[in-house]
This record gives sequence, structure tokens and C-alpha cells, in this order.
Amino acid sequence: MPAARPKKARAGAKIPRPIIISVAQNKGGTAKTTTTLNLGAALAARGKKVLLIDLDPQGNLTSGTGIDLAALNGSMYQVFTDRNVTLSDITQDRIGLTVAPAHISMVTLEMDLVNRNGREWILKRKLEALDGEFDFVLVDCPPSLGLTVTNALAASHYVLLPVQTQAYALYGVPQLMEMMNVIKEDLNPDLTVLGVLLTFTNRTRLSREVEEEIKNYFKDEVFPTSIRQNVKIAEAPLSGQSILTYAPEAAVDYISLAEEVEKRVNAKFK
Ligand SMILES: Nc1ncnc2c1ncn2[C@@H]1O[C@H](COP(=O)(O)OP(=O)(O)OP(=O)(O)O)[C@@H](O)[C@H]1O
Ligand SMILES: [Mg+2]
Repeated sequence: MPAARPKKARAGAKIPRPIIISVAQNKGGTAKTTTTLNLGAALAARGKKVLLIDLDPQGNLTSGTGIDLAALNGSMYQVFTDRNVTLSDITQDRIGLTVAPAHISMVTLEMDLVNRNGREWILKRKLEALDGEFDFVLVDCPPSLGLTVTNALAASHYVLLPVQTQAYALYGVPQLMEMMNVIKEDLNPDLTVLGVLLTFTNRTRLSREVEEEIKNYFKDEVFPTSIRQNVKIAEAPLSGQSILTYAPEAAVDYISLAEEVEKRVNAKFK
């Protein structure tokens, strides 16, 4: 079942700073990483200070911002495993964004943290130690439902769910919703679906049919903007750029998504 509509915050409640959004889906290849990077860049273009956190050991977000994965001095691996390492110890400023890189060593995180007390809260605690410099934190989750994703969801205000408009689009979604419900119950009652983002849309009948199916399922949780398939969006990270600078004419979808994200966040706290 789709999650309940986001509840309004208490009247007069202040917008939290930073707003923390996990970009999550346990199905692979739904444009989580692409969305984290380009939504981040589009929010930065609106004057927001944005921190991107790469939780996927593949490091695609990290390399997509032009960081050399082979020359890292520190990554989220140290943030998770070393009590003395803070986020600002390992972040790098790139293309108008601040990036907390991932590293392949994160494939063993789950095992390395197995005996650690409070291991679901590590990311939340490290984010609490930031000194108010960011408006938004976007967390790129790997396509799994393991401890790193639990950490992301436990630390987040919102989840943004990219769903690919291809066959079997709903594959994985019920499991993610189930996990969200467990996390809401056990770790983070305030976790809210910010929205479902249709990705890879095109003019084919299949794409339109899947769009319909997802809209029937998620109703008005679906963002009005969907992200159209466009080879430029796939090319941009290969040159370490967002779509805003690589091919501004192909950036309109992410630019309007950023506007909708801000609108939804503001609506909750108005
Ligand atoms: N709108 C788009 N048009 C064309 N190609 C796209 C678009 N969005 C993403 N891609 C490409 O599709 C592939 C999958 O995207 P991406 O890596 O962002 O997905 P993901 O959900 O992060 O994958 P994973 O689950 O492996 O982490 C990438 O090669 C990316 O460049
Ligand atoms: Mg990814």
C-alpha cells in the first residue's frame, strides 16, 4: 500500500536545517544516483547549500562529481567505522556541491559494524554534528535494504523514490515500503515519503502504461515532473558534471523537480 500522505508539521514548526532526503529504491538502475547529483545541482542553482552523501560502494555519485575514486583520502567508510572521523573530515567541494565520497571498502560495512552498539544511528549522529552550514542533505542509497540504507532512513526527514517507467516498475517497491514502515515504527516515526519520481519516461506506449500504473498506485505522491530519458543525462557524470552545466537545455526536468521538492518541504512546515 502507498504510504499515508505526509502529515503537516505542528503549526509554526520551523523547517529543519538541513532537510535530509534519502534517494532510495532497492531495485537497481532507477536513476537514484543521477537524481541525487542533478537534484543537488538544481537546488544549489536555487541558492541552496547542498551536501551529497554517497552510500553506494560503487561510488558512482562520487565519480560523477569528478572525484578520483583511486585518490581518496577518506570516505564514508571512515565516517561509519571511526568514532573520531566527522563528515567534514572527508567531504570535498565539487561543482558547487559538497560531496561525502563512497569507497569500495564499504562493501564490508555491514560485517565490520556487526558488534557496534547503535549501529543504525551512526549516520544520524554524524549529521547532527554538522554545524548548520547546509540547507539540504541528499543521500544516495545503494540498491539494497541493508544497514547503510537503514542508517540513511533512520537519519532522514524524507525519502524520494525514483521509479523507472519500464516493465516491472513496481518490483521492489512493496519491500521498500515495508522497510520504511518498520523503520518508522522502530527508529524514525517522522520519516515521510517526499514523493515518487518517474524516471526514464519516453513516448513509448510501455512508458505511458507504466506511468499510469504508478500514478494509480501512488496517486498524488507522484511528482508532477517526471525525468525524461535523455542520453545527455547519462553522459554528464562521465565528465564529472551535472546536467545543469553539461547540457543546460536537457536540465529542465531536474530544475522543475527542485522547485517541487522545495514546495513540498515548505508546504509541510507552513
Ligand atoms: N533520464 C535519463 N536518461 C538516460 N539515461 C539515464 C537517465 N537517468 C539515468 N540514466 C542512466 O541510467 C543508468 C542508471 O542510472 P543510475 O546509476 O542513476 O541508477 P541507480 O538507481 O543509481 O542505479 P544503482 O541501483 O545501480 O545504484 C546510468 O547509466 C545513468 O547514466
Ligand atoms: Mg546508484
